[in-house]
Amino acid sequence: MAIERTFSIIKPDAVAKNVIGKIASRFESNGLKMVEMQLKQLTREEAEGFYAEHKERPFFGDLVEFMTSGPVVVQVLEGENAIALNRELMGATNPQEAAEGTIRRDFAQSIDANAVHGSDSPASAEREIAYFFGK
Ligand code: PPS
Repeated sequence: MAIERTFSIIKPDAVAKNVIGKIASRFESNGLKMVEMQLKQLTREEAEGFYAEHKERPFFGDLVEFMTSGPVVVQVLEGENAIALNRELMGATNPQEAAEGTIRRDFAQSIDANAVHGSDSPASAEREIAYFFGK
């Protein structure tokens, strides 16, 4: 299987709950290596640009508000099949629907405060990594 890179965010709710290390440990123990990592307060412009594909969705304003409500960890994860593996470790968008043992099931409280973001395709991973870390 191919070695891939994917983009991940530990969202403000998880940073506020002091579980950065616990989430990072899920990545590490499942073969994903953190090759870039930064604790960062997103500006409104950064959050709006990052989520631009959702700008017509009814929750866009709330999503931007939430993502700028406190610091986040932006990171690049590397490993075999990293994009799909990270999505599997994260669990479903809505923590109530996330499988047992997933990050969202264990650390998230609601569909808007759902602990982590992960790229959903190779094209998204490329765009999102470049957005925060350059080429
Ligand atoms: S899609 O269509 O699959 O791309 O949409 P989805 O992955 O479900 O959601 C995209 C991002 O929007 C967030 N989201 C919400 N935020 C606030 N309120 C509501 N109701 C809501 N529904 C979805 C969701 O957490 C996704 O964020 P990321 O950072 O991409 O995981």
